[in-house]
Amino acid sequence: MAESTKTALITGGSKGIGYGIAEALIRDGIRVAVTSRSQQNADEAATALNKVREGYALAIESDVRSLASQEQAVQIVLDKWGRLDYFIANAGVGHFAPIQELSAEHWQETIDINLTGVFFSAKASIAALTESKGYFINIASLAGTNFFANGTAYNASKFGLVGFSQAMMLDVRNAGIKVTTIMPGSVATEFNNHEPSEKDAWKIQPEDIGQIVSDLIKMPARTLPSKIEVRPTTPK
Ligand SMILES: NC(=O)c1ccc[n+]([C@@H]2O[C@H](COP(=O)([O-])OP(=O)(O)OC[C@H]3O[C@@H](n4cnc5c(N)ncnc54)[C@H](OP(=O)(O)O)[C@@H]3O)[C@@H](O)[C@H]2O)c1
Repeated sequence: MAESTKTALITGGSKGIGYGIAEALIRDGIRVAVTSRSQQNADEAATALNKVREGYALAIESDVRSLASQEQAVQIVLDKWGRLDYFIANAGVGHFAPIQELSAEHWQETIDINLTGVFFSAKASIAALTESKGYFINIASLAGTNFFANGTAYNASKFGLVGFSQAMMLDVRNAGIKVTTIMPGSVATEFNNHEPSEKDAWKIQPEDIGQIVSDLIKMPARTLPSKIEVRPTTPK
């Protein structure tokens, strides 16, 4: 394996969109570390990903709610592969309830993971991405621009993330780091305890977001698609 092989770290890469991105990047010849709150979930994902390309996937137990945990995850990638080129801030949760019923605990968890977790991810990776002239990609949501009933916590986290992500883009562009905000509509995953089935065929599939990330990192260095809205062509 050439020392110049590019590397990626994907938070919440154990399933869903994060896993779809991991698979696409490994097919592109990029080494990928996937994180999860559970070592077992991360290991299972890495085992499956290593079947796509042996030795290209690495499992890391890491919780985005901890800056120290994010710093450790970046250090594991640097120790193992010597560089970090792409950081995909993907980990996220959704708690949906009317404000009258939304618990303080669910509010806090949503903000901690979906918003503060990305801040910690950025703080932990900017030095390594400055070194590599790398790329930081945020998986936000159309819920970061469209508000809906039962969405106070999720909307707040994703509206916040869209603002954070674009301001960060302006902060780090002159250091040679690209930042893109991807805002998907409905994607067929286990998000919010959903069980994907054939009925989800109309939705965006995780590999479609993988294709978007794969295409983004192939853009000429001079050009930055900074915010991308993506939605099912024909919603049900
Ligand atoms: N599905 C959609 O329709 C949709 C649409 C727009 C945006 N999004 C966004 O896309 C992202 C991925 O969602 P998904 O649909 O792929 O959901 P998913 O299938 O439920 O996957 C979520 C991932 O995040 C990880 N995760 C959750 N909390 C974490 C934490 N504190 N630290 C580290 N990892 C954590 C999970 O890993 P473990 O459970 O193993 O820890 C899992 O790998 C989220 O940010 C979500 O808001 C989803």
